[in-house]
Amino acid sequence: MSIPIYTYDAIVVGAGLAGCAAARELQTAGKKVAVITKLHPLRSHSGAAQGGINAAFSDEDSVELHEFDTVKGSDYLADQDAVEFMCKNAPETIRWAERMGAAFSRKPDGTIAQRPFGGQSSPRACYAKDRTGLTLLQTVYEQAFRAGVKFWDEWYAADIIYKDGKVSGVVAFNIRDMQMAIFNAKSVMFATGGYARAYKINSNAHANTGDGLSIVARHGLPLEDMEFVQFHPSGLSGNGVLISEAARGEGGRLFNSKGERFMEKYAPNALELASRDVVARAILNEIREGRGVGPRKDAVFLDVTHLGKDLIMSRLPELRELAITFLGLDMIEEPILISATAHYSMGGIPVDIDGHARKNNSELVEGFYAAGECSCVSVHGANRLGANSVLEAILFGRFVGKTMVKDIDGIELRPANEEDAQTALSEIDFLLNNNGNESIPALREELQQCMTANAGAFRTKETLQIAIDTIKELRQRFQNVRVKDKSKVFNTELQEAIEFGHMLDYSLFIVDSAIARKESRGAHYREDFQKRDDENFLQHTMAYMDNEGNIKLDYMDVVLGKHELQERHY
Ligand code: FUM
Repeated sequence: MSIPIYTYDAIVVGAGLAGCAAARELQTAGKKVAVITKLHPLRSHSGAAQGGINAAFSDEDSVELHEFDTVKGSDYLADQDAVEFMCKNAPETIRWAERMGAAFSRKPDGTIAQRPFGGQSSPRACYAKDRTGLTLLQTVYEQAFRAGVKFWDEWYAADIIYKDGKVSGVVAFNIRDMQMAIFNAKSVMFATGGYARAYKINSNAHANTGDGLSIVARHGLPLEDMEFVQFHPSGLSGNGVLISEAARGEGGRLFNSKGERFMEKYAPNALELASRDVVARAILNEIREGRGVGPRKDAVFLDVTHLGKDLIMSRLPELRELAITFLGLDMIEEPILISATAHYSMGGIPVDIDGHARKNNSELVEGFYAAGECSCVSVHGANRLGANSVLEAILFGRFVGKTMVKDIDGIELRPANEEDAQTALSEIDFLLNNNGNESIPALREELQQCMTANAGAFRTKETLQIAIDTIKELRQRFQNVRVKDKSKVFNTELQEAIEFGHMLDYSLFIVDSAIARKESRGAHYREDFQKRDDENFLQHTMAYMDNEGNIKLDYMDVVLGKHELQERHY
């Protein structure tokens, strides 16, 4: 069967906020652009962001404070030039989103409402009730569609075409009928989302299988700071579904089984609004020390009852619905049960401030870009502040789109041919025809349980070594997998097998990077090295996979700036 080749100026993979924002920029600049997404765009995970998007524009706030909070929150691993760029352009990003049609919640005087979020000096998170991500995604997708961007929905990007330091397209198949196609382009952008689905309890969509990262890594390109996985303090007990920081921002309090407001011990000033890594560890510590609540004693109470029905219904309606649906608890009437949930990936595809993907510490890949959660620019360092991710996605999505517009005329199209699809075809052929006895759901369950138990919010050399050994064993067993569904129509079993291969590869990056970082910084907490060690580890991890699937580590300098290193206290 011959493989069609479609030619565009630019291909964007992923249709969340970063992808849609970039595609709109390209299209409105007259470039021919296509977005490839394995979902319908409105099911992208950006839509799950609840609590807000940061911008300093109230009289009590400033861009400088936003920068400081972000750098401090990052435990000083963020690149300060990128943080400065983001915070400076945040107010304009909100105005842009408004002009595009986003309906933010308002104060009585008509100005945009802002709520407090963790680790912030001032109420800074602009919001649309507790559906901020969905409101923004609908807006940005609508505008990209209106501008004429071609969306290839339910197409699975299986590979990039990468030769001689240059990317010239994407190999993808139609999930509806397995038709393979080559998308040949001068430039390609990845906006493929994060990787927290490696963990059993997580807040991520089923689709967040980190495909983009593993596709890139398999070509020998680096992944940066993969050990930094954010655990959000409030996921619903048992399933990890996100209960926005907005609940604590609006005044929600945390209690243990003794009725103690335990954050007084861990963060006497900021309490429930310390940075996420601090609050998540405090919750897990209370549970570990036997002060958990709920039927399994694996949760703490989040209490918003004192806020009253009117406030909850006007600002947190979605959260209330979620707690009723999944736990049968009405937060208007009683406290709900929450615990930490794997939520966000600080690491990703290393990019410079304009979104060009790095080939190594000193060279860039021609024609290849990334933005949003799959990228590492790095504005979040070792721990992201709540409401900075939606900001990063839209802001860098737009700016990287503009960079691509500028670069495109200087890039020559390298024609693609059927050979470029061979790796993807062989992988599918192997998965469909291998008659082993391992099933993907069972292997995935083992991986997620292992990552949660051994590479979670608390880690040691011993637990990380268990994770490394388990991943290597699972890789062997993956060679003995059996996909029972041999059909070509919506073969989700096959797709899950491909996705699981990606999860295995990037999980090895997480644990190999984590075992080598013998310090605690932000979300990476080593019980055997409890202090931050700036002398040896104030640097980004750059990890590469070799042809045998082993990870090699290198390090890259952090861009420092006006915010001097300090010990963090909240
Ligand atoms: O808690 C939340 O609403 C999540 C927001 C974020 O991750 O930025």
